[in-house]
Amino acid sequence: MQVVSIINHKGGVGKTTLTANLGAGLAARGKRVLLLDLDSQASLTVSFFTPTEWAEQLLPERTIKHWFDGLDDGSALHSPAGLLASPRRVREKLARSSGRLDLIPSHRDLSDVDTELAAHLLSDPDRFTQLHSRLRAGLAHEAFAGYDVALIDCAPNFGLIARNAVAASDLLLIPTKPDYLSTNGIDSLGLKISSFVDEFNARCADDEQIARPPAAVVFTMVQLHNDEPIEAQRSVMSRVEAGHVEPLTTTIRDSKAVYGPAPEYGVPVILGGTGRAATRELRELVSEISERLDGVEGIAA
Ligand SMILES: Nc1ncnc2c1ncn2[C@@H]1O[C@H](COP(=O)(O)OP(=O)(O)OP(=O)(O)O)[C@@H](O)[C@H]1O
Ligand SMILES: [Mg+2]
Repeated sequence: MQVVSIINHKGGVGKTTLTANLGAGLAARGKRVLLLDLDSQASLTVSFFTPTEWAEQLLPERTIKHWFDGLDDGSALHSPAGLLASPRRVREKLARSSGRLDLIPSHRDLSDVDTELAAHLLSDPDRFTQLHSRLRAGLAHEAFAGYDVALIDCAPNFGLIARNAVAASDLLLIPTKPDYLSTNGIDSLGLKISSFVDEFNARCADDEQIARPPAAVVFTMVQLHNDEPIEAQRSVMSRVEAGHVEPLTTTIRDSKAVYGPAPEYGVPVILGGTGRAATRELRELVSEISERLDGVEGIAA
């Protein structure tokens, strides 16, 4: 299974939208896709499940919080298989595909877990590797052997749970809007990721070392004029191209009319959207990312 994190400490840049559409697009091509919602805002979860389904069927015992429960006192992870949920509306859309899409939902208290685990790390720095390996170790569980790819939607921060995602990942996608403020933190995020990987490797045993995952920027909410990004955005995009994290060729256009209603409808744009141009470019993006993934080995569950 290959593990991809969609990560940016900047908020509102399209992380969740990219995760949902990439996951659905890969599933439509026959891949068995696992989504993990690591954000206590639970936007990914409520993009697939109604708030009632989430509250009544999932929150009691099937959330990513349960994955992290017990880590503070060093308890082992119970089988994560019981956390998996299959969103009905997408399942119906994928009925004729051999692919599937399942999700491990989020929990509003996940940000508290992040803070508590960070406090444990401060008081006991020797637990660094253990506290950052919960996702990595869990994804290698046989419960996930049937999945081809896992996509992790991160919260807009670089806390302990987001670092868990980096430690588990084979590839990082960094969505960003092509504007000055949104792109400003990309290089610093790259540096933070590198120094986290260095610290992880300095503290863990030789056979637990991790590689720094390759990363790519994905431009989202691109404003087009005559099918080209508007001038102000084009100059920002050129600056990012000259930076340390290479952008993908395919970009996602800005379209509130197409992207706005999809989460409530419960089906990502790529499977049931109204905008043909937006859908076409999403499919191109899935192809480009699939090509990247072809060169990535992944973890054996
Ligand atoms: N291509 C797009 N065009 C127009 N609106 C978009 C596009 N992509 C996302 N949006 C909208 O922008 C808002 C933020 O998107 P999204 O939730 O995907 O970002 P995010 O990075 O996950 O945010 P957060 O940091 O809060 O988790 C949402 O209202 C979404 O519908
Ligand atoms: Mg989000």
